[in-house]
Amino acid sequence: MLRLRHFVDVMNNMYWDHPEERFVGNYEFTKPVIFIRDIELIKKITVKDFESFLDHRNFVSAEVDPLFGRNLFSLKGQEWKDMRSTLSPAFTSSKMKHMLPFIVEVGNQMVSSLKTKLRDSGSQTIDLDIRDLASRYANDVIASCAFGLRVDSHTDPDNEFYKMGYKSSNFGFWQLMKFFVFASAPSLAKHLKMTLFSEDVSAFFNHLVMSTMKDRESHNILRPDMIHLLMEAKKGRLIHEEKSEKDADAGFATVEESNVGKKTINRAWSDMDLVAQAALFFIAGFETVSTAMTFLLYELAVNPDVQDRLVEEINEHEKLSGGKFDYNSIQSMTYMDMCVSELLRLWPPAIASDRLCNKDYNLGKPNPKAKEDYIMKKGEGLNIPVMAIHRDPNYFPDPLKFNPERFSEENKHNIQPFTYLPFGLGPRNCIGSRFALCEVKVMVYQLLQHMRVEPSEKTPIPVKLSTESFNLRMKGGHWLRLRARN
Ligand code: HEM
Repeated sequence: MLRLRHFVDVMNNMYWDHPEERFVGNYEFTKPVIFIRDIELIKKITVKDFESFLDHRNFVSAEVDPLFGRNLFSLKGQEWKDMRSTLSPAFTSSKMKHMLPFIVEVGNQMVSSLKTKLRDSGSQTIDLDIRDLASRYANDVIASCAFGLRVDSHTDPDNEFYKMGYKSSNFGFWQLMKFFVFASAPSLAKHLKMTLFSEDVSAFFNHLVMSTMKDRESHNILRPDMIHLLMEAKKGRLIHEEKSEKDADAGFATVEESNVGKKTINRAWSDMDLVAQAALFFIAGFETVSTAMTFLLYELAVNPDVQDRLVEEINEHEKLSGGKFDYNSIQSMTYMDMCVSELLRLWPPAIASDRLCNKDYNLGKPNPKAKEDYIMKKGEGLNIPVMAIHRDPNYFPDPLKFNPERFSEENKHNIQPFTYLPFGLGPRNCIGSRFALCEVKVMVYQLLQHMRVEPSEKTPIPVKLSTESFNLRMKGGHWLRLRARN
């Protein structure tokens, strides 16, 4: 609460202060929360016994704040299963393929605005806060792919969509405090009718989605984006397809859809339910993707040999593809995938994951000397320390080094199952992993094709995390120098 330490450091301390324990516990005010260290136990909780840990911990009440409370992340039990099955066909490789041109278009806008900035500066280089660049790019991708709206937040920095998106996803001090109350005193939050989104943000997204759907319906417009897929879902026409042999996977980090998400269901969803899923792109896919892109560009700037090798691969791809992007060809870039996989290991945007225990569960003994099993009670929450595991030298030697070679063809089989979890695990894993990987790869491709990223005098080396936010932010800003390539 006093923001003296970053959440990552708190998690790391819990992880490293108790090396003999399979799990430890702490109190969030009066609520006990379990912190799982043991990989086998993580596997049991997220996969084998996932029915006992189906949901995330309580955040916002769906009655009070339906835009947050009715989204896939917040839904619970059978409703979650039904919504997951409804939505999962919208996130397959074949759907991503159709959305790729929208992502490329946004990347072109970004490159063109950077070129203008460079020209205006009269120099070969510009220094900028790369996080600002990455968040504007991520915002425009969401506008286009999730809401069917074309915006250019680089040349029109104060557009309404950017302002509303920023407001909905920028967790400043008061939003953090609200999270605290939601997590530790949900009944109080409900009683006080606390919402995460302000009224104007809810009204904005609601109106945008509903009016776009109406417009498309009445003018027979077909644009293969999320709004279209949600309209199809509402009509029960979004169906599961078998993965085609031709569809490349999105990369090493991709997570697979479980059988829970592949069931065919027949259930009517309200308009608000659909709006909540579109808005979910902001909550689940804005901060995470912007963070991944920011830290990847940082690592490429401070590791120029890696950047050079990646640019070589990009140039080769350009020659082979004749300058055209295609979903499968991007996925065939092995070094790109190694860099992105390593980035998500070293700087996983979701630094921890959580589950809620929905029936009493025996966790076993916390350590070999303990006399008693620990029974986790229904209603108690647990955390999985993703980043601490990713930086444990027992699983990843020399863990602080950015080393894409860990993910090479020769080395990747050395990675112990369940120790690499940037997109979570089990049926409740990230539904958007393909989308996220594709977006990050395309952005980095387009940027590096035209610019070289370098550290500037203001670049923080090494990174210290800012305690202003519980997300990954660099202390001192995310300054990098961009140099135009010939
Ligand atoms: C690099 C970017 C991203 C990372 C690292 C990331 C990571 C995660 C993680 C760790 C979880 C929780 C999984 C678990 O508890 O096992 C999650 C859930 C989720 N993510 Fe992502 N995510 C990213 C981008 C996206 C994008 C672009 C979307 C698009 C909408 C998305 C949608 C979701 C949703 C809907 C859930 C909840 C799934 C459910 O409860 O069924 N994510 N993500």
